[in-house]
Amino acid sequence: MLKYQYLLTHDGVFLPTLAIIGTQWGDEGKGKITDYLAEGADMVVRYQGGANAGHTIKVGDEVIALHLLPSGMVRPGVISVIGNGVVVDCEAMGKEIEGLVRSGRSADGLRISDRANIVLPYHRALDGAEERARGNKGVGTTGRGIGPCYSDKMARSGIRMGDLLDEEYLRERLDTVLPIKERLADSLGEPLNIDRDELVRKLLEYGRTYRDKIVDSSVLIYDAIKAGKRVMFEGAQGTMLDIDHGTYPYVTSSNCTSAAICTGAGIPPSMVEQVIGVVKAYTTRVGAGPFPTELKDETGRKLLHQGEEFGTTTGRERRCGWLDLVVLRLAVRLSGLTSLAITKLDVLNDIDPIKVCVAYEIDGERVENFPGNASRLERARPIYEELQGWSSWSEETASLCRRGVEALPEAMRDYISYIERSVGVKAEILSLGKRRDETIDLRPDRWSIA
Ligand code: GDP
Ligand code: IMO
Ligand code: MG
Repeated sequence: MLKYQYLLTHDGVFLPTLAIIGTQWGDEGKGKITDYLAEGADMVVRYQGGANAGHTIKVGDEVIALHLLPSGMVRPGVISVIGNGVVVDCEAMGKEIEGLVRSGRSADGLRISDRANIVLPYHRALDGAEERARGNKGVGTTGRGIGPCYSDKMARSGIRMGDLLDEEYLRERLDTVLPIKERLADSLGEPLNIDRDELVRKLLEYGRTYRDKIVDSSVLIYDAIKAGKRVMFEGAQGTMLDIDHGTYPYVTSSNCTSAAICTGAGIPPSMVEQVIGVVKAYTTRVGAGPFPTELKDETGRKLLHQGEEFGTTTGRERRCGWLDLVVLRLAVRLSGLTSLAITKLDVLNDIDPIKVCVAYEIDGERVENFPGNASRLERARPIYEELQGWSSWSEETASLCRRGVEALPEAMRDYISYIERSVGVKAEILSLGKRRDETIDLRPDRWSIA
């Protein structure tokens, strides 16, 4: 009963919070799904990752790519929060805000946690220097300084948004930290050459620019949920890039499962209600690391081109492969997914048969659970089941979607049911195109649970 105490509104209607989680290696379509669900939301919160993310939203014919800003920024009236668990690149954020303002949108609803760590120029430099030092064993990072910034956070060497409002303290922190970074960069053979006074000047300027937006976001979010506001949590990256549970070391430097919402937004687990896992109908991955269902053949090229699988942040070609249920089962277990949003179903048009990986064979043994060791994973051979494909449709996708799930090709409906049965979670949102109206919504009720 205690749980519901937080979530009952004045008139007794139960208003849950919604979390959007990537279930694969990122780029599942979280931006599209978050934007779609944000209609009617009061607040959208980012709680991990940084400007390494690339979330694409299509509004009419306009394509908007967001990296650091929550997707709520595209919906007027929504409060968009960058939580304490995010690492903030002020320069990248400034450019994104400029872009949104140029497109006629407002940044008035943006709030940034005073506890969020800042990505500094030396983090970007060290990201590159460390990747180069790894030689051909590099992670293939986005080069946005994410790893070095999170490392500093954990090593207690970080500078936080709130520090930008206190010149004396900021100088003291940089005086302590910068010499360590300089020595590290020297040892990698790539000296930093950072002018400390110039850096302080720039950081204080950011402080003045964002002064009104820097808040105690844990209080803001907690109070909003208590007041019955509709709050969404937008995940970045995906389960397989999670620092603990992903394909370590080929991962990002934050937790990408629903558990990260609590630490990264500063709210208790009892406030995370619905957890929607975004599942691309096949699999993609950018950067290095094991990918058991990767296709290096004609079908892989077809997925790349039909799915326009090019990185939103770095423009790199994404590696493509079949759907992997070992991965999806892991995502269901780690994040407690309550429903699925299956995206890019249209990309599988005219691919027949469709294969789905149900388990791996490693060293002659059938393996059902995702192995923790990258070298063991490199030896994993997918065990596939085959499903029937379907042909493309002739009518406009938006009009097909309006006719509902019954209008979809039978083989597509079978594919969806097969996924649901295999992981024991219902698909409540189906996406067949980039736009908002190319979506089928099977949720019984938008924001309330009966
Ligand atoms: P995110 O990082 O999870 O937000 O995903 P990205 O935005 O990086 O990549 C997903 C890409 O697929 C974007 O270009 C979206 O516009 C696009 N997309 C999303 N849903 C669909 C869909 O159902 N069909 C097609 N064809 N494209 C989609
Ligand atoms: P969204 O939110 C796909 C990958 C990088 C690299 C690894 C580590 O758009 O799904 P990092 O720069 O984080 O240290 O790089 O993680 N990566 C992503 N791949 N989508 C993302 O975000 C990613 N963010 C990081 O390619 O392999
Ligand atoms: Mg992306």
